[in-house]
Amino acid sequence: MPKYSRLQIVIHWVVVAMIIIQWSTADAIPRTHNPLLPAKEWDLFLHMVHNYCGIGIGALVLLRMALRLRQRPQINHFRDLAAATIHWGLYGSLAAQAATGVIVTYFWAPAAWSHKALWYVTLVLVGLHLTAALWHGIRRDGVLSRMSPSLRIGRK
Ligand code: HEM
Ligand code: HEM
Repeated sequence: MPKYSRLQIVIHWVVVAMIIIQWSTADAIPRTHNPLLPAKEWDLFLHMVHNYCGIGIGALVLLRMALRLRQRPQINHFRDLAAATIHWGLYGSLAAQAATGVIVTYFWAPAAWSHKALWYVTLVLVGLHLTAALWHGIRRDGVLSRMSPSLRIGRK
């Protein structure tokens, strides 16, 4: 079974944490745009975190796609194809969400619907990915250890 490099594992878990940050900071954005209330300092800070963290996710996803193209896992089975499709779907939805976030914020606010819609696409793909992770965890077939930081200490 091909292993993920240490860099890929670090990026995987850093991006998971950054997506949680995006989800937890998103609510502050409409509050900063409320014309009836002055924006709170804290909400403006959360808005800034959302913007820069989102741009960071976009950059990391591009790096991740490049790493994946350099080291392509073999497709021997329908399961491999399904996993690859969901992984590429996640790269695509996250890259598109970062791009639409930049467009909405700096160029064209009416495109906000696309940024919101892409979040639901990401949620569906993450749901499928987590269901697969759970299935592999129950089967104990070693797939989880390919992305686990603890089990790879000392390996290349
Ligand atoms: C992959 C990275 C990103 C994720 C996962 C993400 C996630 C989200 C989520 C969940 C929402 C709330 C959607 C809703 O209300 O239904 C949101 C809203 C928003 N995000 Fe992001 N975001 C990302 C990148 C960015 C970037 C890079 C920017 C700007 C530079 C940005 C700017 C905004 C803005 C302005 C809104 C408010 C849209 C509105 O309510 O009109 N996002 N984002
Ligand atoms: C927001 C959440 C997540 C996203 C967006 C995500 C995304 C991805 C992507 C794109 C890959 C392909 C390899 C890569 O580019 O790094 C991957 C692989 C993997 N992920 Fe996640 N992941 C998430 C959460 C999780 C969680 C919570 C687990 C464990 C419970 C997990 C376990 C794995 C495993 C085991 C692989 C390797 C699968 C294989 O080799 O076929 N992921 N993930």
